[in-house]
Amino acid sequence: MPMTDSRTLYIHTIGCQMNVYDGEQIERMLAGRGYRPVAGPESADLVVVNTCAIREKAEQKVFSFLGRLARLKRERPGMMVAVGGCVAQQEGEKIRKRAPCVDVIFGTRSINALPGLLDAAEVTGRPQAELAMSPGEAAFVTARPPEAGAGPASAFVTIMQGCDNFCAYCVVPRVRGREVSKPPESTLAEIENLVAAGVREVTLLGQNVNAYCGGAGGCDFPELLARVNAVEGLRRIRFTTSHPKDLSEGLMAAFGRLDKLCHHIHLPVQSGSDAVLARMNRKYSRQIYMDRVAALRDHCPDIAITSDFIVGFPGESEADFEQTLSLMDAVRFDGVFAFNYSDRPGAPAARFRNKVDPAASSRRLERLLNFQKTVTTEKHAAMVGKVVEVLVDGPARKSAPQFTGRTFGNAIVNFTPEPADRMDQMDLMDRTDLMDQFRPGRRVRVLIEAAFAHSLRGKPEPREAKGEKSHAA
Ligand code: 5AD
Ligand code: SF4
Repeated sequence: MPMTDSRTLYIHTIGCQMNVYDGEQIERMLAGRGYRPVAGPESADLVVVNTCAIREKAEQKVFSFLGRLARLKRERPGMMVAVGGCVAQQEGEKIRKRAPCVDVIFGTRSINALPGLLDAAEVTGRPQAELAMSPGEAAFVTARPPEAGAGPASAFVTIMQGCDNFCAYCVVPRVRGREVSKPPESTLAEIENLVAAGVREVTLLGQNVNAYCGGAGGCDFPELLARVNAVEGLRRIRFTTSHPKDLSEGLMAAFGRLDKLCHHIHLPVQSGSDAVLARMNRKYSRQIYMDRVAALRDHCPDIAITSDFIVGFPGESEADFEQTLSLMDAVRFDGVFAFNYSDRPGAPAARFRNKVDPAASSRRLERLLNFQKTVTTEKHAAMVGKVVEVLVDGPARKSAPQFTGRTFGNAIVNFTPEPADRMDQMDLMDRTDLMDQFRPGRRVRVLIEAAFAHSLRGKPEPREAKGEKSHAA
C-alpha cells in the first residue's frame, strides 16, 4: 500500500507485560495492512485499547480513556475504536453501554480476529465483537516477525495463556481462561526471529510458567529454558511469573546450569500469614515459601528475588500484617510490588466478609513500601565499588549522554560514558564509535559509584583495544 494511503494507528496499553506483548503483536499485524503508528490518539484513524481488569483502578483507567476517545470521536467521526484484553473479555458487549464510541470488542484469545472485525465494522457500519476462548495454539497471536535490525534490545515472548490456580482474589482465570502452552517449536522460531531483528534479551511470559507443558513431547519449562539457552546470538533470558507452590528442583537447578538465564526470579508471596495465605487459596505456607527461597539461594547464591504483596485482604488483622513484615525481614527481597486489595467481580474474595478499612489498608501498604525501600537501598549500597555487567536498554530518558540498562540480577544501572565536556570535544567519528559501544543490546562492564532506592549509577570500565570492540558486545 503506498504511504499516502496508509492509515494511522495508536495503541494504548494498560496493565501487565502480556498486554505489552499483545500490543506489539497487534502493531505488527496491522502494519501488514497499511497502518503506521502515531504518538497519540488525536491523529489516529484507529485506536486500539489493551485493557486490564486486575484491580478496580486499572478498570477505571480504561473507562476514563474511553471517555477521552468519545470526545475525540465527536470531532472526527471517522475514527475507529477497538477494545481488547481483560476488560473486553470480562464485560463483552456491555462495554458499549458505558462507552458507545467503541466499534470493535475482541477478547484475550481473539487477537487474530481483529483485522476481520475491523473490516466488518467498516463495511457494515455496525459494532463487532469476538469473545471466543480459542483453545490450543489458536490462543496465541501470529503476527509477522519484526524487520531485521528493527528490534529493541529486550523483548517479551508469551509462552502460556491463562491460569488454573483460582487464587481467591484474582480475576485472571476468568478472563484469560484455562492454561495453554505455546509449542516449543513456535516459541523457538519466534525467539530466533527476534534475535535476527537485533533482540538480545527475551522475557518469557506466562501466569505460571512452572506449569508449562508444550508440544507433542510435553516439553517442560526447564527443558524449554535449555532450548532457548542454545539460541545463538541471544544473550539473556528472563521469565515471569512463577507460582511458589510449583517451583521445581529442575527450575532451581537451571539457574546454576544455564549461562544465559539471568539470576533473578519473581516469586509472588502475597502475604506472610498462613491464615491469609489459606484464605487466598495459595496452597503453600509461609514455611514452604521460606524453604523454597533458601533452596533457590543454595542453587544460585547471588539470585535476586522479587515478589508481589496484597495488603488488606479480607480478614487480614494487624497481627497477620506483622507476619508479612517479618517474612520480608527474613527474606530481604531485592524488590517488591505491593497493592491494596481490590474487590473483583466474580472472584470468590469479593463475597468474603470482614473487609479491611481502606484507610487501614493504605497505612499498611505505606509501611510495607517504606520497609522495602530501606532494604533495597541497603542492597544497592552494598554494590558500590563493584563492577557489574549491564545490558544496554538505550539512552536514559533524562539527560543525554546517559545510558540505562540492567544487571544480570535486574537492577537498573544508569551510566555516563565520558564527562559530557569531553563528548562535546570529540570529533564525529569518535563520538559515533563511542555511541556504538553503548547501542541497545551491547553488554558493558560498569563500575558502580552511587546507589539509590530504585537504581544505581556508575561509569563504564575503560575499553579494551579497539579491535576487541565486536567481542565486547
Ligand atoms: N487486588 C489487589 N491486588 C491483586 N493482584 C491480583 N489480584 C488482585 C486484587 N484483586 C496482584 C497480585 C498479583 C499481581 C499481578 O496483582 O499481587 O501477583
Ligand atoms: Fe491470579 Fe493466582 Fe493465577 Fe496468579 S496464580 S494469575 S494470582 S489466579
